[in-house]
Amino acid sequence: MKESMENIDKPLSIGVFDSGIGGLTVVKTLRSVLKDVNIVYLGDTARVPYGTKSEETIKRFAREDAAFLIEKGVDIIVVACNTASSVALSYLKKEFNHIPIFGVVEPGVNMAIQVSRSGHIGIIGTIATIKSHAHKRILNKHGIFNVYEKPCPLFVPLAEEGLTKGDIPRLIAEYYLKGIREKVDTIILGCTHYPILIDTIKEVVGDSIHLVDPAHAVAKEVKSFLEKNNLLKKSGQPTLDLYLTDIPPHYHSLLSIFLGFTPDTIEKVNLKDISSC
Ligand code: DGL
Repeated sequence: MKESMENIDKPLSIGVFDSGIGGLTVVKTLRSVLKDVNIVYLGDTARVPYGTKSEETIKRFAREDAAFLIEKGVDIIVVACNTASSVALSYLKKEFNHIPIFGVVEPGVNMAIQVSRSGHIGIIGTIATIKSHAHKRILNKHGIFNVYEKPCPLFVPLAEEGLTKGDIPRLIAEYYLKGIREKVDTIILGCTHYPILIDTIKEVVGDSIHLVDPAHAVAKEVKSFLEKNNLLKKSGQPTLDLYLTDIPPHYHSLLSIFLGFTPDTIEKVNLKDISSC
Protein backbone atom coordinates (compact mmCIF):
# COMPACT_ATOMS: atom_id res chain seq x y z
CA MET A 1 0.00 0.00 0.00
CA LYS A 2 2.76 2.38 1.03
CA GLU A 3 4.56 1.63 -2.21
CA SER A 4 1.54 2.39 -4.39
CA MET A 5 0.97 5.70 -2.55
CA GLU A 6 4.57 6.61 -3.27
CA ASN A 7 4.04 5.85 -6.94
CA ILE A 8 0.96 8.04 -7.09
CA ASP A 9 2.86 11.03 -5.73
CA LYS A 10 5.97 10.48 -7.80
CA PRO A 11 6.10 13.02 -10.65
CA LEU A 12 6.73 11.80 -14.15
CA SER A 13 10.36 11.80 -15.14
CA ILE A 14 11.43 12.77 -18.65
CA GLY A 15 14.88 11.75 -19.81
CA VAL A 16 16.42 14.07 -22.37
CA PHE A 17 19.73 13.50 -24.08
CA ASP A 18 21.93 15.41 -26.45
CA SER A 19 25.46 15.17 -27.74
CA GLY A 20 26.36 18.04 -25.45
CA ILE A 21 24.91 21.08 -23.80
CA GLY A 22 22.84 22.28 -26.81
CA GLY A 23 19.87 20.09 -25.88
CA LEU A 24 19.27 22.39 -22.93
CA THR A 25 17.43 24.63 -25.43
CA VAL A 26 14.96 21.73 -25.67
CA VAL A 27 14.88 21.35 -21.88
CA LYS A 28 14.07 25.05 -21.52
CA THR A 29 11.12 24.69 -23.89
CA LEU A 30 9.95 21.42 -22.28
CA ARG A 31 10.05 23.07 -18.87
CA SER A 32 7.98 26.04 -20.10
CA VAL A 33 5.29 23.66 -21.41
CA LEU A 34 5.49 20.93 -18.74
CA LYS A 35 5.78 22.48 -15.29
CA ASP A 36 5.13 19.32 -13.24
CA VAL A 37 7.67 16.84 -14.53
CA ASN A 38 11.13 15.96 -13.37
CA ILE A 39 13.72 16.22 -16.11
CA VAL A 40 16.88 14.14 -16.19
CA TYR A 41 19.30 15.46 -18.79
CA LEU A 42 22.31 13.70 -20.20
CA GLY A 43 24.80 15.71 -22.26
CA ASP A 44 27.57 13.67 -23.82
CA THR A 45 29.99 16.57 -23.54
CA ALA A 46 33.03 14.26 -23.61
CA ARG A 47 32.18 13.06 -27.14
CA VAL A 48 30.45 16.07 -28.71
CA PRO A 49 30.07 16.72 -31.64
CA TYR A 50 28.01 13.86 -33.03
CA GLY A 51 27.33 15.77 -36.23
CA THR A 52 30.69 14.95 -37.77
CA LYS A 53 30.64 11.23 -36.85
CA SER A 54 29.63 8.14 -38.82
CA GLU A 55 26.16 6.61 -38.63
CA GLU A 56 27.54 3.57 -36.80
CA THR A 57 29.20 5.68 -34.10
CA ILE A 58 26.17 7.96 -33.64
CA LYS A 59 23.94 4.88 -33.13
CA ARG A 60 26.34 3.43 -30.58
CA PHE A 61 26.56 6.70 -28.65
CA ALA A 62 22.78 7.21 -28.78
CA ARG A 63 22.22 3.67 -27.45
CA GLU A 64 24.53 4.34 -24.51
CA ASP A 65 22.81 7.66 -23.82
CA ALA A 66 19.34 6.09 -23.79
CA ALA A 67 20.53 3.15 -21.66
CA PHE A 68 21.93 5.59 -19.10
CA LEU A 69 18.62 7.46 -18.82
CA ILE A 70 16.69 4.20 -18.49
CA GLU A 71 19.04 3.20 -15.65
CA LYS A 72 18.09 6.48 -14.01
CA GLY A 73 14.44 5.39 -14.05
CA VAL A 74 12.96 7.86 -16.53
CA ASP A 75 9.44 7.19 -17.85
CA ILE A 76 9.93 8.53 -21.36
CA ILE A 77 12.89 9.70 -23.43
CA VAL A 78 13.22 12.76 -25.64
CA VAL A 79 16.12 12.59 -28.06
CA ALA A 80 16.87 16.32 -28.15
CA CYS A 81 19.85 15.85 -30.43
CA ASN A 82 18.80 16.33 -34.06
CA THR A 83 21.75 14.28 -35.25
CA ALA A 84 20.82 11.29 -33.06
CA SER A 85 17.13 11.73 -33.95
CA SER A 86 17.95 11.76 -37.67
CA VAL A 87 20.30 8.80 -37.65
CA ALA A 88 19.34 6.60 -34.69
CA LEU A 89 15.69 7.10 -33.67
CA SER A 90 14.20 3.97 -35.23
CA TYR A 91 17.19 1.94 -33.99
CA LEU A 92 16.61 3.23 -30.43
CA LYS A 93 12.88 2.50 -30.63
CA LYS A 94 13.67 -1.10 -31.58
CA GLU A 95 16.37 -1.52 -28.93
CA PHE A 96 14.26 -0.04 -26.12
CA ASN A 97 10.72 -0.89 -27.13
CA HIS A 98 9.40 -0.83 -23.55
CA ILE A 99 9.69 2.94 -23.19
CA PRO A 100 8.20 5.78 -25.28
CA ILE A 101 10.95 7.58 -27.20
CA PHE A 102 10.39 10.90 -28.99
CA GLY A 103 12.71 12.45 -31.55
CA VAL A 104 12.79 16.01 -32.80
CA VAL A 105 12.75 15.40 -36.56
CA GLU A 106 9.15 14.42 -37.24
CA PRO A 107 7.58 17.04 -34.92
CA GLY A 108 9.76 19.72 -36.56
CA VAL A 109 8.77 18.60 -40.04
CA ASN A 110 5.07 18.54 -39.12
CA MET A 111 5.27 22.06 -37.77
CA ALA A 112 7.08 23.24 -40.91
CA ILE A 113 4.35 21.74 -43.09
CA GLN A 114 1.74 23.57 -41.03
CA VAL A 115 3.34 26.99 -41.34
CA SER A 116 4.66 26.85 -44.90
CA ARG A 117 2.43 28.46 -47.50
CA SER A 118 4.56 27.66 -50.56
CA GLY A 119 5.61 24.13 -49.57
CA HIS A 120 9.22 25.11 -50.26
CA ILE A 121 11.06 24.12 -47.12
CA GLY A 122 14.69 24.43 -46.03
CA ILE A 123 16.51 22.33 -43.45
CA ILE A 124 19.71 23.35 -41.74
CA GLY A 125 21.63 21.01 -39.45
CA THR A 126 24.86 19.17 -38.82
CA ILE A 127 26.69 17.30 -41.57
CA ALA A 128 25.33 13.93 -40.34
CA THR A 129 21.76 15.23 -40.05
CA ILE A 130 21.76 16.62 -43.57
CA LYS A 131 23.48 13.54 -44.98
CA SER A 132 20.80 11.30 -43.44
CA HIS A 133 18.04 13.14 -45.40
CA ALA A 134 15.72 12.27 -42.48
CA HIS A 135 13.65 15.46 -42.81
CA LYS A 136 13.57 15.26 -46.58
CA ARG A 137 12.27 11.68 -46.53
CA ILE A 138 9.34 12.64 -44.28
CA LEU A 139 8.58 15.74 -46.35
CA ASN A 140 8.62 13.63 -49.52
CA LYS A 141 6.14 11.22 -47.89
CA HIS A 142 3.84 14.22 -47.43
CA GLY A 143 4.20 15.04 -51.13
CA ILE A 144 6.61 17.93 -50.53
CA PHE A 145 9.51 17.81 -52.96
CA ASN A 146 10.85 21.35 -52.93
CA VAL A 147 13.25 20.63 -50.09
CA TYR A 148 16.58 22.44 -49.68
CA GLU A 149 19.15 21.06 -47.24
CA LYS A 150 22.24 22.82 -45.95
CA PRO A 151 24.76 21.75 -43.32
CA CYS A 152 25.87 24.68 -41.14
CA PRO A 153 28.57 23.18 -38.88
CA LEU A 154 30.13 26.51 -37.82
CA PHE A 155 26.91 27.54 -36.07
CA VAL A 156 27.74 25.07 -33.27
CA PRO A 157 31.01 26.69 -32.07
CA LEU A 158 29.53 30.16 -32.59
CA ALA A 159 26.63 29.34 -30.25
CA GLU A 160 28.95 27.75 -27.70
CA GLU A 161 31.20 30.80 -27.81
CA GLY A 162 28.17 33.01 -27.15
CA LEU A 163 29.07 34.76 -30.41
CA THR A 164 25.48 35.16 -31.51
CA LYS A 165 25.35 38.74 -32.82
CA GLY A 166 27.53 41.00 -34.95
CA ASP A 167 29.58 40.71 -38.12
CA ILE A 168 31.12 37.27 -37.63
CA PRO A 169 27.93 35.21 -37.14
CA ARG A 170 26.11 37.35 -39.73
CA LEU A 171 28.77 36.70 -42.41
CA ILE A 172 28.78 32.99 -41.62
CA ALA A 173 24.97 32.87 -41.73
CA GLU A 174 25.02 34.67 -45.10
CA TYR A 175 27.60 32.23 -46.42
CA TYR A 176 25.42 29.25 -45.47
CA LEU A 177 21.96 30.62 -46.16
CA LYS A 178 22.32 32.71 -49.31
CA GLY A 179 21.62 29.67 -51.49
CA ILE A 180 18.38 28.69 -49.83
CA ARG A 181 16.78 31.87 -48.51
CA GLU A 182 15.59 32.80 -52.01
CA LYS A 183 13.90 29.42 -52.50
CA VAL A 184 11.95 28.74 -49.32
CA ASP A 185 9.38 30.30 -47.00
CA THR A 186 10.20 28.05 -44.04
CA ILE A 187 13.45 26.80 -42.54
CA ILE A 188 13.71 24.04 -39.92
CA LEU A 189 16.41 24.75 -37.33
CA GLY A 190 17.62 21.15 -37.32
CA CYS A 191 20.22 21.44 -34.57
CA THR A 192 19.91 22.15 -30.85
CA HIS A 193 22.41 25.01 -31.08
CA TYR A 194 20.69 27.02 -33.80
CA PRO A 195 17.92 28.62 -31.69
CA ILE A 196 20.72 30.50 -29.88
CA LEU A 197 21.52 32.19 -33.23
CA ILE A 198 17.91 32.82 -34.19
CA ASP A 199 18.16 36.64 -34.27
CA THR A 200 21.13 36.58 -36.64
CA ILE A 201 19.53 33.90 -38.82
CA LYS A 202 16.36 36.03 -38.96
CA GLU A 203 18.39 39.09 -39.91
CA VAL A 204 19.99 37.19 -42.79
CA VAL A 205 16.91 35.40 -44.18
CA GLY A 206 14.39 38.17 -43.54
CA ASP A 207 11.14 38.37 -41.62
CA SER A 208 9.03 36.63 -44.23
CA ILE A 209 10.70 33.24 -43.68
CA HIS A 210 9.32 31.08 -40.85
CA LEU A 211 12.03 29.62 -38.64
CA VAL A 212 10.84 26.39 -37.05
CA ASP A 213 12.42 25.37 -33.74
CA PRO A 214 11.55 21.66 -33.33
CA ALA A 215 11.77 22.02 -29.53
CA HIS A 216 8.33 23.68 -29.50
CA ALA A 217 6.87 20.94 -31.68
CA VAL A 218 8.29 18.09 -29.60
CA ALA A 219 7.21 19.72 -26.33
CA LYS A 220 3.65 19.95 -27.69
CA GLU A 221 3.74 16.35 -28.84
CA VAL A 222 5.08 15.08 -25.50
CA LYS A 223 2.48 17.10 -23.59
CA SER A 224 -0.39 15.74 -25.62
CA PHE A 225 0.96 12.17 -25.25
CA LEU A 226 1.17 12.57 -21.47
CA GLU A 227 -2.30 14.11 -21.24
CA LYS A 228 -3.84 11.43 -23.45
CA ASN A 229 -2.31 8.71 -21.28
CA ASN A 230 -3.20 10.49 -18.06
CA LEU A 231 0.43 10.54 -16.96
CA LEU A 232 0.71 14.11 -15.71
CA LYS A 233 0.69 14.50 -11.94
CA LYS A 234 0.95 17.63 -9.83
CA SER A 235 4.40 17.93 -8.37
CA GLY A 236 5.45 20.41 -5.69
CA GLN A 237 9.05 20.82 -6.70
CA PRO A 238 9.88 19.55 -10.18
CA THR A 239 13.60 18.96 -10.54
CA LEU A 240 16.19 19.22 -13.29
CA ASP A 241 19.17 16.92 -12.86
CA LEU A 242 22.06 17.28 -15.24
CA TYR A 243 24.50 14.53 -16.06
CA LEU A 244 27.47 15.37 -18.24
CA THR A 245 30.16 13.02 -19.49
CA ASP A 246 32.65 15.86 -19.10
CA ILE A 247 32.39 19.10 -17.18
CA PRO A 248 33.97 21.66 -19.49
CA PRO A 249 35.84 24.54 -17.82
CA HIS A 250 33.41 27.11 -19.25
CA TYR A 251 30.26 25.14 -18.29
CA HIS A 252 28.83 28.05 -16.29
CA SER A 253 28.73 30.27 -19.36
CA LEU A 254 27.34 27.39 -21.48
CA LEU A 255 24.55 26.84 -18.95
CA SER A 256 23.63 30.49 -19.00
CA ILE A 257 23.63 30.60 -22.84
CA PHE A 258 21.62 27.41 -23.37
CA LEU A 259 19.46 27.10 -20.25
CA GLY A 260 19.27 30.42 -18.46
CA PHE A 261 18.53 28.96 -15.03
CA THR A 262 20.39 26.78 -12.55
CA PRO A 263 19.73 23.02 -12.53
CA ASP A 264 19.16 21.26 -9.22
CA THR A 265 22.16 18.98 -9.61
CA ILE A 266 25.12 18.60 -11.97
CA GLU A 267 27.12 15.40 -11.98
CA LYS A 268 29.88 14.00 -14.15
CA VAL A 269 29.24 10.45 -15.32
CA ASN A 270 31.03 7.75 -17.24
CA LEU A 271 28.69 6.07 -19.73
CA LYS A 272 30.96 3.10 -20.28
CA ASP A 273 30.55 2.08 -16.61
CA ILE A 274 26.79 2.30 -16.89
CA SER A 275 26.41 0.37 -20.14
CA SER A 276 28.66 -2.43 -18.93
CA CYS A 277 26.52 -2.87 -15.78
N1 DGL B 1 23.31 18.44 -30.68
C1 DGL B 1 23.63 18.31 -32.07
C2 DGL B 1 22.36 18.35 -32.91
O1 DGL B 1 21.32 18.81 -32.49
C3 DGL B 1 24.58 19.39 -32.53
C4 DGL B 1 25.99 19.25 -32.05
C5 DGL B 1 26.70 18.01 -32.55
O2 DGL B 1 27.20 17.98 -33.69
O3 DGL B 1 26.77 17.07 -31.80
O4 DGL B 1 22.39 17.89 -34.02
